Amino acid sequence: MAVLVLGGAGYIGSHTVYELIEAGRDVVVADNLLTGFRAAVHPKARFYELDIRDGAALDRLFKEEEIEGVIHFAASSQVGESMVKPLKYYDNNLWGTCSLLESMVRNGVNKIVFSSTAATYGLPERVPILESDRTEPINPYGETKLAMEKMMRWLDKASGLRYVALRYFNACGAHPTGLIGEAHNPETHLIPIILQVPNGQREYIGIFGDDYKTKDGTCVRDYIHVSDLAQAHILALDYLLAGNKSDVFNLGNGIGFTNKEVVECARKVTGHPIPEKILERRPGDPDMLVASSEKAKSILGWKPKYADLETIISSAWRWHKNHPHGYEVE
Ligand code: UFG
Repeated sequence: MAVLVLGGAGYIGSHTVYELIEAGRDVVVADNLLTGFRAAVHPKARFYELDIRDGAALDRLFKEEEIEGVIHFAASSQVGESMVKPLKYYDNNLWGTCSLLESMVRNGVNKIVFSSTAATYGLPERVPILESDRTEPINPYGETKLAMEKMMRWLDKASGLRYVALRYFNACGAHPTGLIGEAHNPETHLIPIILQVPNGQREYIGIFGDDYKTKDGTCVRDYIHVSDLAQAHILALDYLLAGNKSDVFNLGNGIGFTNKEVVECARKVTGHPIPEKILERRPGDPDMLVASSEKAKSILGWKPKYADLETIISSAWRWHKNHPHGYEVE
């Protein structure tokens, strides 16, 4: 039996495929390659180029392969873009997931682990955030991810789908082998953008706002290494395969760093002065997002290995230094 990874050519998906293969699992990857990269797919995974909104293509895949469970990363994931193009998020994230779940029901596959997000909480009532805290997204990205969670909850009641929603905080870092890493076009995330400065691709890092209610006025985020996220998906899938009930888990390190602290740490790792400029606030940014991941630790047995920010940024730096243009061939 194989594990089907949808969006397995993307950042977190490709790292999860590597961990699955290292753990000896048989892996099938499907991706429409709109934002993912064929080169990011592990050579031992069987690859299908398809869009999850294409139910007939999914049906063919489920007939050709024996799938025991699905790990679903195939979604649009940029907060800023979602504010400008909300319908793209409803189409790709919600309709895409609806099409996928319909095909899973048709083909008798009833276990799914999927990417949710800290953006489901909106402006948190407190930090660290618990899974039971209020969910009131402030952007279409978080809204569609929360709706995906709810879609699965109703399908669980109606037809016995078992799901685990993993609410990630800030994914970062790169695979320890240096073979795969973060590559978005355009890049919007803080750590890869900071690293463009020592890589000679940008003169300074612009920090969005320094009047937030935090210790130095810049936003606080909880940075979690992508390989730790990948491990959590395997644990969650095995949890479902063992017959456990549907559930929702936060995934973060539980430590918040301000944007300025992240820049400072990158200076230390790269040895570059990395000049910074304070810019206007970016719409849709909450002051502080820090996870409580106690539930994932106690129920799934998850143990993040890369809690230290310096280690995380070092792994990212190794990737970006060696692949300044991501997967694109120069
Ligand atoms: N930032 C800058 N300058 C930049 C880029 C980012 O100051 O050039 C700041 C942002 O304003 C924010 C922090 O760095 O304060 C982190 O921003 P990212 O874009 O790296 O990450 P986000 O926290 O906005 O988003 C991440 C994921 C989303 C997820 C969200 C949960 O990318 O998918 O966490 O809130 F929804």
